[in-house]
Amino acid sequence: MMKILVTGGTGYIGSHTAVELINAGYEVIIIDNLSNSKEFFIDRIEMITGTRPVFVNADLRDMNELNEFFKNTNGIDAVIHFAAFKAVGESVKDPLLYYDNNICGMTNLLKAMTANKIDKIVYSSSCTVYGEANKLPVDENSPIKKAESPYGFTKQVGEQMLFDIAASKEMKSVILRYFNPTGAHDSSLIGELPIGVPNNLVPYITQTAVGQRDMLTVNGNDYDTPDGTNIRDYIHVVDLAKAHVTALSRILSGKTEQDAEVFNLGTGNGNSVMEVINAFEKVTGIKLNYRIGPRREGDVISIYSDTEKANKVLGWEAKRDLADMMLTSWNWQKAISNSTNNN
Ligand code: NAD
Ligand code: UFG
Repeated sequence: MMKILVTGGTGYIGSHTAVELINAGYEVIIIDNLSNSKEFFIDRIEMITGTRPVFVNADLRDMNELNEFFKNTNGIDAVIHFAAFKAVGESVKDPLLYYDNNICGMTNLLKAMTANKIDKIVYSSSCTVYGEANKLPVDENSPIKKAESPYGFTKQVGEQMLFDIAASKEMKSVILRYFNPTGAHDSSLIGELPIGVPNNLVPYITQTAVGQRDMLTVNGNDYDTPDGTNIRDYIHVVDLAKAHVTALSRILSGKTEQDAEVFNLGTGNGNSVMEVINAFEKVTGIKLNYRIGPRREGDVISIYSDTEKANKVLGWEAKRDLADMMLTSWNWQKAISNSTNNN
């Protein structure tokens, strides 16, 4: 059985990926410092899969903890690296926190991997690296724009580190540029667990619908789009998780065509903020309380993915639609709001 280290594996995308990895027959070891997640996700992964992943509470910023981990754990075949901070606004207020966690944390991980001769990594990047793209849908050859936030910069630096290491032939990587992950596992046992006020649209919608927030504010309806609101490519987290299994199998079986390969992970469909709200109202039958507010600083107007490379080269395709994303997000919101674990 191949042994896979998943950093950030108790987090939103990491926990869904751990489930798909176990279902695909991999042994999963999770490192997470629980800075943005809860340990009960390990129980939930076990409830879904019947297998409990090994969990190590360690911080990638602490080289001693990492060395200790690798000293005690042999035979890791590859790493999927999720662990990072991801709040755009927070990164603007505290850039050093983001440089330290996302860049130093990843540098430590790569150093430890190199020292332990682990030479395969799948990396969580973001469509944020494209900024406001020159042409839509955006493909992998679109230029990388100056980052809009320190968070976005850390994703670019992470990619560049992997390109540089690939050039020195020390490591092979698959870089996955996610569009907008949403939705939750069908079991409603795992899903996104925002700590504090959510920044992202879908958790804000579900928390409003469940009564945890008074009202959603739509960040501007005067953009140059059909209904005036921003357009994004929302992708179901389970589809995204499955793409990691496909990427992993590609890298493990030596099928990668370059030492650092890049894939967009989206559906190829652009949906506006109003379309997301309408889809939520339709599948749940709930009338959402919202108002139109001012534009949010730093938002790109429209972005959605060209999926051809992921479809043809990676051999992966998103299957689940916006209605499914809304329904599973809502079911998860209701489950977690009722759960005493959420404190
Ligand atoms: P998340 O916050 O739910 O998961 C990240 C996990 O990493 C958390 O469990 C956190 O506790 C852990 N972590 C953070 N810093 C750590 C450290 N120094 N040491 C150990 N563990 C640490 O976030 P997510 O949505 O699952 O995102 C996973 C990855 O995907 C991140 O790298 C993020 O930048 C990237 N990404 C996310 C989105 C999105 O919208 N969710 C979009 C594009 C890219
Ligand atoms: N929005 C609202 N009201 C809200 C929250 C969001 O109208 O309360 C709007 C935003 O202005 C934007 C759209 O909903 O137009 C989507 O916003 P999100 O914050 O959900 O997502 P973003 O596209 O801004 O960014 C997300 C992640 C980033 C990641 C990016 C691409 O937050 O970390 O997707 O993957 F880089």
